[in-house]
Amino acid sequence: MMQTKKKVSVNDIIAMKGAEKISVLTAYDYSTSLICDRAGVDILLVGDSAGMVVLGYPSTVPVGMTEMTMFCSAVARGTKRAMIVGDMPFGSYQPNASVAVENAVQLIKAGCDAVKLEGGSEIIGTIKAIADAGIPVMGHIGLRPQTSSLWEGYKLQGRTRESAMKLVQDAKALEKAGVFSIVLEMVASEVADTITKRVSVPTIGIGSGRGCDGQVLVLHDMLGIYEDIRPKFVKRYAELSKSIFDAVASYTREIKTGRFPEESNAFHMGLEELDKFRKAKKK
Ligand code: KIV
Repeated sequence: MMQTKKKVSVNDIIAMKGAEKISVLTAYDYSTSLICDRAGVDILLVGDSAGMVVLGYPSTVPVGMTEMTMFCSAVARGTKRAMIVGDMPFGSYQPNASVAVENAVQLIKAGCDAVKLEGGSEIIGTIKAIADAGIPVMGHIGLRPQTSSLWEGYKLQGRTRESAMKLVQDAKALEKAGVFSIVLEMVASEVADTITKRVSVPTIGIGSGRGCDGQVLVLHDMLGIYEDIRPKFVKRYAELSKSIFDAVASYTREIKTGRFPEESNAFHMGLEELDKFRKAKKK
């Protein structure tokens, strides 16, 4: 898509299938959203991964609507062009469809353009209810971090014929329910390729190979903010952990040795007032 200042819409994303790959990154705050938006990412996903990478929880399960609403509004304030998708946290859509619609509305009011829910055929009714309320929905199948963490842990999905067929059926069910795109997380490439060919909406892969219509990564992973976390599917585009460490260590050293602040960082009184001040000090 030609990079214009125009806001990326649901129709733009759908039209990119087969024409142009879709770039998606997670975002959780104002400052990094400003940069990612300016750099031309198509979709900023306010993922509930914020619970892990920003808040330090061991999984995404503890994240609630209060935190997600705050992250979404901060991202919205920093974003002009990218489409903003807000993740519905665990517990915000499971009780029933009307709770799900209420919470989806809350994320839209916070500045999101669409919401994302984890799940396949079993949440079709909920997806339809949200879509019927006029809210664009992104699906998410394969590894579902909210519930995988409670069951088998984070594992590759679609390794057997049965699980591969189930993923294809789930994707078709999501398409029928009206999602505008589907995240495929940690899905075997062959299965992701098949889904991508069989659904009319774009697939957005994470750890699901090269064939998806778009790719998403967690911002902190691709920027190397956590030195020791190196999933195989992540490509690091920066080593910020090292850069931030070096900068903070230099700052501390320079304060201790008196090298910072320098004269150029200081402010001064005007000469006239300085003169008066000197005289007043002597009294
Ligand atoms: O929460 C998140 O960041 C996500 C992406 C990894 C797809 O759901």
